[in-house]
Amino acid sequence: MQTRLTQAFGIRHPIVSAPMGLISGGRLAAAVSAAGGLGLVGAGYAGRTASEPDLNEELALVRGHTFGIGFITWALARDPGRLDELLVHRPACVFLSFGDARPFAARIAAAGARLICQVQCMRHVDEALDLGASVIVAQGAEAGGHGASRATLPFVPEVADHLAKRSPQTLLLAAGGIADGRGLAAALMLGADGVVVGTRFWASQEALTPEPMVARAIAAGGDDTVRIKSLDALRGVEWPEEFSFRVVRNGLTEAWAGREAEARAAFGSMREAYARARASHDLDIVATIAGEAIGLIHDRPSAGSIVESMVAQARQQLERAGAWLRQ
Ligand SMILES: Cc1cc2nc3c(=O)[nH]c(=O)nc-3n(C[C@H](O)[C@H](O)[C@H](O)COP(=O)(O)O)c2cc1C
Repeated sequence: MQTRLTQAFGIRHPIVSAPMGLISGGRLAAAVSAAGGLGLVGAGYAGRTASEPDLNEELALVRGHTFGIGFITWALARDPGRLDELLVHRPACVFLSFGDARPFAARIAAAGARLICQVQCMRHVDEALDLGASVIVAQGAEAGGHGASRATLPFVPEVADHLAKRSPQTLLLAAGGIADGRGLAAALMLGADGVVVGTRFWASQEALTPEPMVARAIAAGGDDTVRIKSLDALRGVEWPEEFSFRVVRNGLTEAWAGREAEARAAFGSMREAYARARASHDLDIVATIAGEAIGLIHDRPSAGSIVESMVAQARQQLERAGAWLRQ
C-alpha cells in the first residue's frame, strides 16, 4: 500500500506507531518498523521521571531500523538539551506534540530528521506550517492520552483542504480512534497519507504496557473511556490548560469528573499516592491510558501482526468499495 508517506520514509505501509510515553519503547518501535510501518519511540516527559524507561537503552533496541522519536513538547522545553542528546541516535523523524515547537525545528532539520507535528486544531496547523513541518498529524479527541476536542472524522479532511491550499507538499496523517483496517481505509479516504496508531499498539506484545491494564482495557468498551483534566492536576503534572486526558474510567475519574477548579486548587496532592498506585497496579487510582478504540480491541497480539492485519483489512475494504462502483 504505497502513499506519499511510504515514499517519503522508504517504508512499506502507511502506518506509524504513536510515540506513547512509558509505553512505546524500542522493542515496539523495532517491531512496527520491521513489519513495514514506521515505529516511534516515545520520549514522553523527556525520560527524566522515575517511572520512565532509560531512553538511550530503548533507542539502542531500534538501531538499524527506520524509526522516529516523539516528545511532549512542553516537557522538552524544560529540558531542551535532551533533544541533542537523543538526536545522536539518528532518527528519521522527530514527532513533537503539545506545545511550542519553534525552539526545536532548526536543530531537528540540522540533524537531517524530518519534523512531524501533532496538532489538535486549525491554529496548530498554521503554527506547524510556519516552522516547516514535513508532516502534520491531525489528532482527534477519540485518541487515547492527551488531546483536545476536535473529532477525527471532520478534522482530518478540514486539515487536508487547508494543506492543499497552503502547503500541498506537507504530508498529513490521521490519529485518534484508528485501530484496524477499516480505520486505515477511512483515513486514506479522508485525505490522509497514513495513520498514527496508539491504543491498538498499546495493547501489543512488545509495548511496555503492564498486563493488568491491557486486561482491563480488553474487558472494557469504547463507552468506558473519558476525557478529564482533573487527573493531571491531582498527580501534579503541569499540562497546559488546552489539553485533556483520555483514560479508562475508574474510581478516581468518577470522583473527580467536572471538578477541574477544585483539582487545580489541590495541585499535586495525590502525587505520592499516585506513584504508589502505579507501582502496585492499583487501577482504581492509576489511569489506564487508552482511547475509544479499546472497543475494537480484544487481544494482545504482536505489533507485526497488527500491521499486517490492518493492511490486509484496509485492502479488503478498498477493494469492496471499488466493487460497489463496478456494479
Ligand atoms: C498510552 C498513551 C500514551 C500516549 N503518550 C503520548 C506521548 O507521550 N506523546 C504524544 O505525542 N502522544 C501520546 N499519545 C497520543 C498518541 O500520539 C496518538 O495521538 C493517539 O494514541 C492516537 O489515538 P488512538 O490512541 O486512538 O490510536 C499517547 C496515547 C496513548 C494511548
